[in-house]
Amino acid sequence: MSNRTYASQEAVIADGRQYLLPTYAQLPVVFTSGSGCTIRDMDGKEYLDFVAGIAVNSLGYGDEKLKRALKQVLDSGLTHCSNLYWNIPAVEAAALLADVTGLARTFFCNSGAEANEAALKLARKFGAQQQPSRAGHIISMKGSFHGRTYGAVTATGQEKYHAGFAPMLPSITYAQFNDLASVQSQVTKDTCAIIVEPVQGEGGIIPAKPEFLTGLREICDTHDLLLIFDEVQCGMGRTGFPLAGIGYGVIPDIATLAKGLGAGIPIGAMAAGKRAESVLSPGEHATTFGGNHLAAAAAGVVLKRLKAHGFLASVQKQGNLLAAELRKLAARYSCITEVRGIGLMQGIELSCAAQPVISACMQRGLLLVAAGTHVIRFVPPLVVTAEEIRQAVSILDEALAEVQDN
Ligand SMILES: Cc1ncc(COP(=O)(O)O)c(C=O)c1O
Repeated sequence: MSNRTYASQEAVIADGRQYLLPTYAQLPVVFTSGSGCTIRDMDGKEYLDFVAGIAVNSLGYGDEKLKRALKQVLDSGLTHCSNLYWNIPAVEAAALLADVTGLARTFFCNSGAEANEAALKLARKFGAQQQPSRAGHIISMKGSFHGRTYGAVTATGQEKYHAGFAPMLPSITYAQFNDLASVQSQVTKDTCAIIVEPVQGEGGIIPAKPEFLTGLREICDTHDLLLIFDEVQCGMGRTGFPLAGIGYGVIPDIATLAKGLGAGIPIGAMAAGKRAESVLSPGEHATTFGGNHLAAAAAGVVLKRLKAHGFLASVQKQGNLLAAELRKLAARYSCITEVRGIGLMQGIELSCAAQPVISACMQRGLLLVAAGTHVIRFVPPLVVTAEEIRQAVSILDEALAEVQDN
């Protein structure tokens, strides 16, 4: 980077500690550039990136089409004009989303939490429309993660995210993930929706069992509930399908999206199918920045890529390779107790803490992130190559050997 204001990473970090609210426990590194699946810190050290901004940088770094599309918007001078007016990138992105997901209409927002907020509000309005006496009960899953705003964090079925912030929203209960009887037992006359991640992400990379998702669809159809798939992490090609639900053959009434949808430009979306698309009326839900020119242009590039011939097949192929390489490691290291995931959303469960292994990888130039305390997750850019996968697993191999010896 030219014209540096800061002479060292330490100087950036010192100012960061002074001026940013301490809501994150950042690692002591400052990244300044990237290309493909590699990012570089201020000292020029390169890292193979299997975090991808936590499943965000779906096209890797420096994608030419993304750069061109963003530059075109910047050159037009109009990055934002408000939802008081129509804008072409948002309309195009919504049409593409309908095409790749089969969900007819979209509300754009800025993040995953916001997409879930929209879905929770829509679900409660849907419930009351169907039956005015319905009190808006929503079933979520234990171990889930839906974001940090009040509705989304209430829907999050992990107490550690609630601690200190009581009271939560009323009328959200938590069933056992992958246990249909547990969900069924929580359905009451007040229930209006079920929200679930087809592959739990922060909860530890846990794919739903196929019969669980088909069973949820049946419960929703029987009791007139909305089925909401939180596809913020597992959607947008990550599992080798436009939506993870499509891979399971289960279509939700609502899919919430963010992360990979903008490939690094902040954008979220709530995509609604037939039963949900007419619930909200003008003025009932909004967000100032939702689907502005810049963000929607990024989503358009990602969605076109998902449609491009061979792209999703390549995600499936590289995902299978990653899983196979991880299984080979698991056969050699008894501390790996399980390898699980779909496509390029894989995790290994360890009998030891994940963080020391992640630190040892980072020293060797591989970025990984935990999901919980004992799971290491692998969510590289969707453009990762076979060679990069082998290189990452070989670094992990060395790191595991080191941690095991200590
Ligand atoms: C499944 C899922 N839902 C929602 C969110 C929240 O998204 P955001 O951080 O963009 O609000 C996340 C973030 O990790 C997620 O993994």
